[in-house]
Amino acid sequence: MYSRIAGTGSYLPEKVLTNHDLEKMFDTSDEWIRERTGIGQRHIAAEGQTTVDLGLEAARRAMAAAGVAPEDLDLIVFGTTTPDQVFPNCGTLLQERLGGHSFPAMGVEAACSGFIYALSIADKFVRLGDAKCALVVGAETLSRIVDWTDRGTAILFGDGAGAVVLKATEEPGIISTHLRSDGAYKDLLYCPVGPSKGFAPDASGRTPMFIHMAGNEVFKIAVKSLGSIVDETLAANGLDKSAIDWLVPHQANIRIIQATAKKLDIPLERVILTVHEHGNTSAASVPLALDAGVRSGQIKRGDLLLLEAFGGGFTWGSALIRY
Ligand code: COA
Repeated sequence: MYSRIAGTGSYLPEKVLTNHDLEKMFDTSDEWIRERTGIGQRHIAAEGQTTVDLGLEAARRAMAAAGVAPEDLDLIVFGTTTPDQVFPNCGTLLQERLGGHSFPAMGVEAACSGFIYALSIADKFVRLGDAKCALVVGAETLSRIVDWTDRGTAILFGDGAGAVVLKATEEPGIISTHLRSDGAYKDLLYCPVGPSKGFAPDASGRTPMFIHMAGNEVFKIAVKSLGSIVDETLAANGLDKSAIDWLVPHQANIRIIQATAKKLDIPLERVILTVHEHGNTSAASVPLALDAGVRSGQIKRGDLLLLEAFGGGFTWGSALIRY
């Protein structure tokens, strides 16, 4: 038994914050941001609009594409780092919004790798026969934990959501997933507060509910880790890199994407690129790109896709998929 992607969907909030808008907030320039990151703009959730609100829109679109009704679902796995509340988890909150009952629904926190982790978990449920129709979501309101005075991080992140419906099938589908994590890097990319550690103000008197990042070091380790995970994925399946039709990467930074594409000898024409449109949306990034590739007609049924992501922790991972 395997799982296959029966439908994809995504959603970006209406409000757009361009690089030129950021020029008015701190010392930066559109040219600098584009050159170093490839990002042109990011979308920002409206006041009161939550991660589950965004996830719901993406889920509805994925379910419509798959021809699936809420009563057909038997699992929700929701990847996010910016949940609506501590509990219930976002998967359960989404289940309620969709009108579903009693099947398992869970949240998965693996920073920017959240969707790949969620996909891998849902795939295992389907392979083991514990689910036949799973909804997998990656959604974030990262703008709520961005320090909008810090030009080193504020230029990078945005809000959004993406989703896929997985159905049980006899042929893959999802061929393999590969997950990695290493807490030795916990101090290079993190948000320092939480219910257990507390929300005490820092020396400047602000509650430091912000993303902290050592950009340069994150960059180098991301390139190395993604390079090795794509190698590992190909080797595990006895495939040559020329077999990949589309690279669907985490949309963090165009230069990180270019480095992985180079490693795979894949021209950028065969890489789904959306980073210019929405920046780094963490767990939403890969399903947003996947949905863009499907809806634009670039990705076709039967294509071999390599999805990959890297994020705080560090966590990283990949999925090899026959679409
Ligand atoms: N606008 C203009 N100048 C900026 C700037 C901004 N937004 N941010 C930093 N700078 C300046 C720095 O102050 C520094 O100036 P100095 O040389 O006078 O000290 C200079 O630009 C270079 O800074 P540096 O941090 O070395 O830049 P960089 O080339 O590493 O680019 C990032 C910074 C954040 C774009 C880059 O490190 C990056 O993308 N890292 C990966 C981040 C990421 O993807 N994280 C998420 C992973 S899931």
